[in-house]
Amino acid sequence: MTFFSRKNGVLHAEAVALSSIAARFGTPTYVYSRAALEAAYGEFRDALAAHPAGAGGLVCYAVKANSNLGILSLFARLGAGFDIVSGGELERVLAAGAEAGKVVFSGVGKTEAEMARALEVGIRCFNVESVPELDRLNAVAVRLGKKAPLSLRVNPNVDAKTHPYISTGLKQNKFGVAYEDALALYRRAASLPGIEVTGIDCHIGSQLLDASPFAEALDKVLALVDQLAAAGIRLHHIDLGGGLGIRYLDEAPPRVADYLTPLLQKLEGRGLQVILEPGRRLVGNAGLLLTKIEYLKPGEEKNFAIVDAAMNDLMRPALYDAYHDIVEVAPGNAAKASYSIVGPICESGDFLGHGRELAVVPGDLLAVMSAGAYGFSMSSNYNTRPRAAEVMVDGDQVHLVRRRETVAELFALESPLP
Ligand code: LLP
Repeated sequence: MTFFSRKNGVLHAEAVALSSIAARFGTPTYVYSRAALEAAYGEFRDALAAHPAGAGGLVCYAVKANSNLGILSLFARLGAGFDIVSGGELERVLAAGAEAGKVVFSGVGKTEAEMARALEVGIRCFNVESVPELDRLNAVAVRLGKKAPLSLRVNPNVDAKTHPYISTGLKQNKFGVAYEDALALYRRAASLPGIEVTGIDCHIGSQLLDASPFAEALDKVLALVDQLAAAGIRLHHIDLGGGLGIRYLDEAPPRVADYLTPLLQKLEGRGLQVILEPGRRLVGNAGLLLTKIEYLKPGEEKNFAIVDAAMNDLMRPALYDAYHDIVEVAPGNAAKASYSIVGPICESGDFLGHGRELAVVPGDLLAVMSAGAYGFSMSSNYNTRPRAAEVMVDGDQVHLVRRRETVAELFALESPLP
């Protein structure tokens, strides 16, 4: 099922023409499809439900991928939990209607205040990534008269074979505790008065297109689970992290069930609740960035299409050289030519795509596809550019889930010198 498709040549989100969204809300605008989000969530829910080891499993959406309240509230209603990495994300998910008991807290730099707030609202688990973090969590919990539910994020040292910036499970990465140290650390955690050991966690990277590193990581983690059991430390859950990739161009990522079923088979009979932390796979292909061509600029070596979206709106091309498909919203009569699609920002890295064949004239709309994950959530106000609006399409309805910022808002917190 495709949620973005053409009717009479015009690209639609569900039943709504993107041209009508541009006319109503302006550009640049992020457009999400509710049906696409629900379908993506359903794949995880169904794959879990199809296997005995997945029963009672929890899909904790990785909020960093897209933290809009419209999206968070939708997932909360579908029964999802959330994987957060900051106090800010905690407040967001609570504002969106999340159950605190379904929230896991990841990240290497949790502050005392963040820990205290998470303990106060009663989150499901802290994914702890270092010895000093363990000690700090214990101290905060003792001070508050609570026990902090803990899982250690173990670094299984497997190669996720993805972009080095988004690979996280190797020894040289800053994430997780070293596999060899995990047993000793669990023993220590189990002896601390403010800690209740509940699970184990690993996350090896993002945009994985091959399921085998997940299986390799799980084997290592399960060997550790056995050593822990032998040491008298029983776990209740295993968190397999996120990382399943999506198609941006011609990648062939595994189906959710094909990624998950072999993992669930390995977990059969162990009595561990499964927690997953997918981000990109839930939202990436459920969103696009709608932008308008301001100018066409023929160059000596290449042609530029200068659009009203920029690297501040979608940083992935500039930051990772990531590919996003870019298509015309409505076909016109212009001759096809090859363009670099660039924004108005004063940086050569400000591009959304290179060498794209498009038949366009100034004023035409373009859709930058697969922009639902790490799009708006990584956007900035660089060049004092108000961040884009965000809308959620639901059938023939369009909900504005974030209005466009105004320029005055961008410096409202600043003051000239007296
Ligand atoms: N869990 C943890 C602990 C994570 O660090 C991440 C992502 C996830 C789950 C979700 O991973 P996903 O299912 O989305 O692959 N900005 C980069 C991606 C950074 C991913 C960081 N961690 C990008 O635009 O490609």
